[in-house]
Amino acid sequence: MKTLFHFTILLFVCSMSFAQFETNYEERNVPKFSVPDPLTTFAGEKISTSEDWIAQRRPELLKFFENKVYGKVPGNLDEVTFKLLEENKNALNGKARRKQVEVTLTKNEKSIRFTILIYLPKNSTLAPIFLGYNFFGNHSITTDTNVFISEAWAMNSEALSISEHRLTEVSRGLRAHRWAIEKIIDRGFGLATIYYGEIDPDKNDLMDGLQNLFYEKGQERPERNEWGSLAAWAFGYSRALDYFEQDNNIDASKVLVFGHSRLGKAALWAGATDKRFAGVISNNSGCGGAALSKRRFGETINVINTSFPHWFSYNFKNYNNNEEALPVDQHQLLALIAPRPLYVASAKEDEWADPKGEFLSAYHASQIYGLFGKKGISNIEMPEVHKPIHNTIAYHIREGKHDVTDYDWEQYVTWASEFLKLNR
Ligand code: GCU
Repeated sequence: MKTLFHFTILLFVCSMSFAQFETNYEERNVPKFSVPDPLTTFAGEKISTSEDWIAQRRPELLKFFENKVYGKVPGNLDEVTFKLLEENKNALNGKARRKQVEVTLTKNEKSIRFTILIYLPKNSTLAPIFLGYNFFGNHSITTDTNVFISEAWAMNSEALSISEHRLTEVSRGLRAHRWAIEKIIDRGFGLATIYYGEIDPDKNDLMDGLQNLFYEKGQERPERNEWGSLAAWAFGYSRALDYFEQDNNIDASKVLVFGHSRLGKAALWAGATDKRFAGVISNNSGCGGAALSKRRFGETINVINTSFPHWFSYNFKNYNNNEEALPVDQHQLLALIAPRPLYVASAKEDEWADPKGEFLSAYHASQIYGLFGKKGISNIEMPEVHKPIHNTIAYHIREGKHDVTDYDWEQYVTWASEFLKLNR
C-alpha cells in the first residue's frame, strides 16, 4: 500500500515518474539473489571462529563499508571541548536531572558546535543511557521550556510550523510523542539527544557541516571514498560518547545508540565504527540501514542516492541499479556490531523501508553472533506483528506507519534492561 508518506517522499525525488516506476512492493518481483556469506572472505576463504572473524573478516568488511558505502572519516580532529551550559536537578517535575552540554569540534582553525540535551534519573549515580538524534531540534522532543532552541539550519515543515529554515518556540514539544522520556527515566535509564542539523545540515551541500573542517584550501567536497552526511552523523554520535566518558553521572560503558529512519542508518554505522557503544537500536532504518539492498523492495540504492545525493560516499553511486555487483549486503553491516546487543525494528505499513528486508538482515547477521555464543534470530520466518523476539539480536514488527511509538520504546527499555544486565 502506498501511503501519503511515501507519496510525499516520491515528490522529493527530482524525477518522480522514474522513482515510481522503480518502486517494487510485490514479493514476487524481488529479484533472485544470493545473500553474501559473512563467513567467506573476499578471497574465498571460509572462516568459522570468532577469532578469525575479528582478525580477518570483520576488518575487510568494515573497510568495504567505509570506502564504498558510507565513506571514510578523513582524519582526526585537532580538539574536542565540552561546556556545561545548564544543569537542573529537579527537571521533569522533579523526576530527572537535566543537563545541556555544548560540544565544540575544531580542525584547521574551523569549528562547529552542537548541544546535547541529557535527562538522567534523579537518584541514579551512574546511569545507562539511550543516545539518539532528533530531526527538529532538542526543544521539539519535550514541552520542557528550559530546553534551548537551536540556531542551526532546519528543514521546513508545515506540520511543525517551521519555515525559512529556522527553529522557533512554536515547535516546542511537537515531537514529544516520539520520545517516551518518562518511561525511560522511570526504568532507570537516561536519555540524551542532539539536533542532527548541528552536525551536518541535511541538504545536498557538503560545505556547511562537519566535512568542511577537514577540507584543504579550495576543497568543496569530500573525496570519492570519504564521508557523506550519514557518516558525519555517526561521527557526531561518537563525540557525544566522548563527553559521556567524562560525565560522572553517566555510565559510558552502557550507551545504546538509537536512531529512527535516516538516523537509524547513522546509528548502525556508529555502532559498527565505534566499539565503545554497548548496543545499537535501529528503528525503521530501511534502505542503507538494516534492510537488504539486493531485494530491491521499496526504496532502492538508485532512489536513495538520487533523492539524497549527500548521504553516502560518492562511491556508493556505483551500485545505483547495480545491486548485483555489491559484494556485501546490509546484514554484514549488522554483523560488524557483533557481539554487542542489536535491536532492529520495523513497522507494518512502512513498506518503503522493506520490513522483511530488515528482518532478513537481522536473521543473516545472526550467524556471526553465533560465533560469539550469542543468540540472534534463529527462525527465517518473520514473527507476527507485536510478537517481539528479544535475544542479543532483537527484532519486532508493529502495526502502523513509519514512526517511533510508545510500543517501540516499551520494547527497547525492556530488552535493554535485560541485555545491559540491569534487571530493574
Ligand atoms: C526518506 C528516505 C529514507 C529515510 C526516511 C527518513 O523516506 O527515503 O531512506 O529513512 O526518509 O529518514 O525519514
